Amino acid sequence: MTKIIAFETSCDDTCVAIYSDGNVFSNLIYSQDHNKFGGIFPEKASRNHLETISKLTEYALQEANMSLSDIDAIAVTYAPGLVGSLMVGVQFAKSIAWSSKKYLVPVHHIEGHILSAKYDCNLSFPYGCLVVSGGHTLLCIAHDLGKYEILGKSLDDAVGECFDKVARCIGLNQPGGPAIEALSIGVEPSIKFSIPLLHAETLNFSLSGLKTAAIRAFDQNNAKEIASSLQHTIAVMLSNKLSKASAQFPEIMNWAIVGGVAANKYIFAYIQQSCTNIKLFSPSKKLCTDNALMIAYTAAQYVEKFGLSKYSYNHSMALMPISRLSIENL
Ligand code: KG4
Ligand code: ZN
Repeated sequence: MTKIIAFETSCDDTCVAIYSDGNVFSNLIYSQDHNKFGGIFPEKASRNHLETISKLTEYALQEANMSLSDIDAIAVTYAPGLVGSLMVGVQFAKSIAWSSKKYLVPVHHIEGHILSAKYDCNLSFPYGCLVVSGGHTLLCIAHDLGKYEILGKSLDDAVGECFDKVARCIGLNQPGGPAIEALSIGVEPSIKFSIPLLHAETLNFSLSGLKTAAIRAFDQNNAKEIASSLQHTIAVMLSNKLSKASAQFPEIMNWAIVGGVAANKYIFAYIQQSCTNIKLFSPSKKLCTDNALMIAYTAAQYVEKFGLSKYSYNHSMALMPISRLSIENL
């Protein structure tokens, strides 16, 4: 069985996982703290990855009770993300692949999130998928490995980005999504924000107007009221899009929510309660937020489909990070 070590450094989490044929030998995440900068500081993020990645790799191998010689292939996130952050993971993976003559499998970060639901919720293709992370908001149908049909995406901010920016303005720590969820517990959503693109036919999203409205409302309302009302408005907006999408594709029964925002229990429960005609899934919390297990699993799916020989280190030395790349162009 192919043993894979995976690296994920697309944003501010340094992640290493070791995986083989359904067994997780290690899944480590080192989350950086950018609170004093008020948001992710890209230069600092890539330096932090550089300082952390070798030690984290040593820990992962120790936890798996393996050495590099036990590993068959290396997987790495090469797109999309902060280019300096991606660069650290890609160059680290390339160096190991070259020096130890191992196979190197490049993985698209969003495909990793989409397949985290296949892995953790035991789904088979095709399934619908709502990706809600700090950098991306999109609705798609996962037809097969590498075949994703985008139904809608954010025209401006991502859902996680909206949570993070509003959280910062109302005095909460980063990442803002979990801070907003925690502050909203037991608080009735009292502010009636208008719901972006609610009556439009489009499956696209727009978050920047809602973000501005939530920040402005801080003049008249406290942080708890804003947090709870924003979280509720986003839940209504997402459930509206999912119910429209499921009506357009009645043959798709299984829908998954993935990415960091999928860890939000209020949002998941709200959508589950309102979209009763579909089966709704979401990976466990550790697999919703950034992790290298989803990257290892995605690489394993490609290796199973195309064989290892396609990923020889000789071919992979040209691999470079790409900051923006749609999953429709894999
Ligand atoms: O998928 P992810 O870990 O990284 C990206 O690919 O961006 O998502 C991070 C985003 C952040 O914006 C964070 O605030 C949000 O996910 N997030 C949450 C929760 N946990 C993480 N948003 C709402 N509720 C949560 N519990
Ligand atoms: Zn992510």
